[in-house]
Amino acid sequence: MRLFVVISLMLRLRPSQGQFPRLCATREALLRKECCPPWDGDGSACGASSGRGFCRDVEVSDLPDGPQYPFSGLDDRERWPLVFYNRTCECVGNFMGFNCADCKFGYFGLNCNERRESVRRNILHLSRAQKIRLVSYLNLAKHTVSQDYVVATGTYREMQNGSNPMFADASVYDVFVWIHYYVSRNALLGGPGNVWTDVDFAHWAPAFLPWHRLYLLHWEHEIRKLTGDMSFTIPYWDWRDARGCDVCTDELMGDRSPQDPSLLSPGSVFSSWKVLCSQAEDYNNRGVLCDAREEGPLRRNPGNHNRNVVERLPTTAEVEFTLGLTNYDTGAMDRTANMSFRNTLEGQMKLTTKTLAGCLCCLLSFSLTCLLFRCSANDPIFLLHHAFVDCIYEQWLRRYRPTPSQYPESNAPIGHNSEYHMVPFLPLQRNRDYFISSKDLGYEYSNLLDASKQLNSRVIISKQRKQRKKNIKTSIFNHCYLSKYIDFNSKCSRR
Ligand SMILES: *[C@@H]1O[C@H](CO)[C@@H](O)[C@H](O)[C@H]1NC(C)=O
Ligand SMILES: *[C@@H]1O[C@H](CO)[C@@H](O)[C@H](O)[C@H]1NC(C)=O
Ligand SMILES: *[C@@H]1O[C@H](CO)[C@@H](O)[C@H](O)[C@H]1NC(C)=O
Repeated sequence: MRLFVVISLMLRLRPSQGQFPRLCATREALLRKECCPPWDGDGSACGASSGRGFCRDVEVSDLPDGPQYPFSGLDDRERWPLVFYNRTCECVGNFMGFNCADCKFGYFGLNCNERRESVRRNILHLSRAQKIRLVSYLNLAKHTVSQDYVVATGTYREMQNGSNPMFADASVYDVFVWIHYYVSRNALLGGPGNVWTDVDFAHWAPAFLPWHRLYLLHWEHEIRKLTGDMSFTIPYWDWRDARGCDVCTDELMGDRSPQDPSLLSPGSVFSSWKVLCSQAEDYNNRGVLCDAREEGPLRRNPGNHNRNVVERLPTTAEVEFTLGLTNYDTGAMDRTANMSFRNTLEGQMKLTTKTLAGCLCCLLSFSLTCLLFRCSANDPIFLLHHAFVDCIYEQWLRRYRPTPSQYPESNAPIGHNSEYHMVPFLPLQRNRDYFISSKDLGYEYSNLLDASKQLNSRVIISKQRKQRKKNIKTSIFNHCYLSKYIDFNSKCSRR
């Protein structure tokens, strides 16, 4: 009872992150191309009367994109968000949100001036009560219609340039499934089966890590608002050296069904979850967008993967090797990038025969095959996995301390240049703004916290840095030696 009171109170506060804001999914807003909803606190657009923000013209960068996507004026995600809106709220100070009702990540309180650091923990180290809470929050999010956001079910053209809005309700959880689908879907070139596949605004290019970082922060933020539990953090799954899916238990993400190995055990709430936006092939064949309807139960089949593609989960040594790559991205900054930290972590560059992030999805056989990774966000393991990928990203950022200007400015695949607004988020956020330490975004990882607590003087830190440099060389050497022996790794064999 109490929980429901808290929840309905929270809902009335009309929190605001994400996409599309319900208040901007109207004919009027689309025709005016303006998404500047009032802040409830004073009724003014973007809370302008209270100095929280103001409504302003959107500016997009004109720096060139890479050659992978040779079109323009074709896809609604180009020059985001200009196809839909050319004016949005710009919040000032510590305010954030599509109407500046929220606080920036890491800030709390009515006036957003309480700074607090949240700690993301290893899911296997949570107490029993924390595990129960996690599962019940996930389930609540899956079954509560989002008050703030709706999802687009048609293209701008199908919406007749705004005069015929096509949006659907979705649960708080499903809004995020949809976001992940929408950002990575193929481009519709018009007509059945006519799609461009070499495009993805969040994968296979530099924005992979910043985009998923923002995605997780938003998700965490939404769960906090839904439950009123401001101390909630997303736990991570440290899959290094794991023998199998050790979070696939009924206490956590759900065991396997005894009847059908690709379904979840009836002892897990997730066995009753329904997926959406999982039929990419079908939408492409019909030349349409996902309509956000339920498409059957959540399927997962850990361990039943194609062993020719990936034989096991990544090891500590493989993660260390990846962290030893000094360049964030290289070459064409797509899936051909060689010796790129981002590409190796993302799983395209073969370490041996396996990959890191991409590997996991094959290993778990998310929704049949990893080719369908666009629907992977349907499985809550996706969040735990990405929290760990983000933790590796954070270790890399702390090791090399790049400045935001070291993030690629131009010629990255479309959607991935530093100034590009991340699709499909509103309020607008740029890739380079999430190329900074998690500490500057108000959160920390428990495993990194322990390490940094041990360093209590600058002398030690600088000594360790020298030592680390040595270790990186050694680890590459060892890795290459090993892979030469196993004869897996062409990229190392010539070193
Ligand atoms: C924004 O879009 C509206 C509606 O199409 C148009 O009238 C207005 O001129 C545009 N503003 C800018 C700054 O492009
Ligand atoms: C939508 O806008 C495009 C480009 O301005 C125009 O060619 C098209 O006729 C418009 N469609 C409708 C239904 O208004
Ligand atoms: C990748 O880079 C390494 C080191 O520069 C080089 O030896 C190797 O040949 C490159 N591999 C590919 C596939 O380009």
